[in-house]
Amino acid sequence: ARPIGVAVLGMGNVGAEVVRILTDSDGDIRERVGAPVVLRGVAVRDASVPREGVDPALLTSDPSALVAREDVDIVVELIGGVELPRTLILAALEAGKSVITANKALMAVHAGELSEAAARNRVDLYFEAAVAGAIPVIRPLTQSLAGDSVNRVAGIVNGTTNYILSEMAETGAVYSEVLAEAGRLGYAEADPTADVEGYDAAAKAAILASIAFHSRVTADDVYREGITSITPADLEAAAKFDCTIKLLAICERLTEDDGRERISARVYPALIPLEHPLATVNGAFNAVVVESENAGRLMFYGQGAGGAPTAAAVMGDLVMAARNRVYGGRGPLESTYASLPVAPIDDV
Ligand code: NDP
Ligand code: HSE
Repeated sequence: ARPIGVAVLGMGNVGAEVVRILTDSDGDIRERVGAPVVLRGVAVRDASVPREGVDPALLTSDPSALVAREDVDIVVELIGGVELPRTLILAALEAGKSVITANKALMAVHAGELSEAAARNRVDLYFEAAVAGAIPVIRPLTQSLAGDSVNRVAGIVNGTTNYILSEMAETGAVYSEVLAEAGRLGYAEADPTADVEGYDAAAKAAILASIAFHSRVTADDVYREGITSITPADLEAAAKFDCTIKLLAICERLTEDDGRERISARVYPALIPLEHPLATVNGAFNAVVVESENAGRLMFYGQGAGGAPTAAAVMGDLVMAARNRVYGGRGPLESTYASLPVAPIDDV
């Protein structure tokens, strides 16, 4: 079969791991996809800086030109930010290329527009890595539970803040000391304010609420509080009540007495009893609990941040998108929610 050409935009924490996995496992991936998957280029800010594990001839600082290349079938966006990736992804989709992104900040605002472009051009737009790193949660919600009715999605969806709160509880350190370490470990966003002020978790809550409730919830619709005012004394006080503090994201579908449905999506630090399963989620791990009408309660747990775990989710999307290009399919239809009615949002 014809090779599938891949462009990777961004070679930071996540992009470098995607390039590594792609380069190391081409044989396996070729078998799973049914065609060779070939890295056509890697876009970075400064292409003159040599990068370990990549042929310098593949590096470019012109992501638009890379996206436009005829031998690129799939674009993997791992730059971050909103406007540049939005422009690049729209260009890719309009040119009939499949797109994979880990960018929750982008998807929490522009998922509707991007999904519509993907649907119009009959190509895949996948974003499994945008919520909870390595943990499969987008695909279970959009595929496995597509025939059920989800009423609640809640949990810990930011690895940086969970790492910080876990370290603070264990060592008594203050949050600013631990934040620097979370950056070094590749968990934090390029601007870690997004993590500690709850914006990143709010973006993920918007994505989860959108796909779980077949609606369109954006980051601005989510009530948000971060962890910057939590002190070691707060964690000590929580421990006296056999509790700990976790930054939670909670998305609920609420039905009024008159039958009208509303969605509530909120992010805030909460007291969690030590015997609760979420209290045992420490470090950069995440956990998402889904409650649905017939399936009941499901819990998803694993590494929520970091280069390699996130790259694993990106690679899953890449194999799916490549397979679809080889065999002519399309889906799962993460984009279907874009056409469903928008529910009014309730800030709690
Ligand atoms: P990094 O900041 O580590 O990497 C960003 C990469 O993008 C760098 O290689 C940088 O180039 C490149 N880049 C930035 N601006 C441009 C530009 N104008 N043109 C070309 N390349 C550019 O980010 P991460 O890898 O941590 O995150 C990437 C995405 O994945 C983000 O959307 C993030 O939210 C998301 N994500 C991250 C997770 C994590 O654990 N880190 C987990 C889940 C999602 P250069 O190297 O030259 O600076
Ligand atoms: N900064 C994010 C986090 C990366 O800490 O959860 C994973 O989305």
